[in-house]
Amino acid sequence: MKDFSFVLPQVDKADQGKEKIIVTYKGETRELLTHDYGEIYKIPGLYENLFYDTLACQSPQVVCGLLEKAMNGNASNSQDRVALDVGAGNGMVGEELAKIGFNTIIGVDIIEEAVEATLRDRPGIYDEYFIEDLTDLPEKVEQKILEKDPNCMSIVAALGFDDIPPEAFASAYNLISEDGWIAFNIKDEFLQDNHPSGFSKLIDEMVASDIMEIVEKERYQHRLCLDGTPLNYYAVVGRKQEPVSDTFIAQYQ
Ligand SMILES: C[S@@+](CC[C@H](N)C(=O)[O-])C[C@H]1O[C@@H](n2cnc3c(N)ncnc32)[C@H](O)[C@@H]1O
Repeated sequence: MKDFSFVLPQVDKADQGKEKIIVTYKGETRELLTHDYGEIYKIPGLYENLFYDTLACQSPQVVCGLLEKAMNGNASNSQDRVALDVGAGNGMVGEELAKIGFNTIIGVDIIEEAVEATLRDRPGIYDEYFIEDLTDLPEKVEQKILEKDPNCMSIVAALGFDDIPPEAFASAYNLISEDGWIAFNIKDEFLQDNHPSGFSKLIDEMVASDIMEIVEKERYQHRLCLDGTPLNYYAVVGRKQEPVSDTFIAQYQ
């Protein structure tokens, strides 16, 4: 039995991430925005109920399903599966990674509430979970991640929108071993030529410079916006070919 309820005020137009919800929990009613992740994670079940049951989000399954398809299509893929899940939130992606055979999963998220919700709702999914800002990872955390030798990085629903910028994606990419898998999703318009987010330039240049090979790419509905508009994303699975150089990353800072 859930001990919260929420109302989605009817609006003609809503901005993704700034959609208002009125939540009642333990007798207190207040207004939150859909990207108030810390406050949402604090209420058990609210994230799942709001984004998955109500707004029809399907991204962890779609991205991890595409990753599984890519890995299955690769004959030399018999090594231990170690994933770095960035913007891990309350562990929904970690749970999917475990289902497709990852035996070591490391999480990184910028907010304390994310790890608290993961330990509360999905204990045991992550072998280690760092509360860190991916744009400013301390060297000792990078070392700890490198010691686990991750051969996959997942970033689901965490690129752009003031979350993870292109340069942080590129730096984190270097924590993955050569030939490692990269599985992420991104709003479709962010991959249009010259998009101001910088992601289309980054991904195009990584591919053109043989830094990353795109193995699978699929456009799908990430979720509904509160005004009912479908929010379409690309799920992308890539394979690391070369590390990204510091000069390359500097273009995006
Ligand atoms: C929409 S949630 C996605 C959570 C999870 N990946 C999922 O699909 O359910 C985005 C997450 O990215 C995290 N995040 C945002 N900026 C970050 C940063 N700079 N470094 C690490 N995590 C970040 C947020 O705290 C939030 O938990």
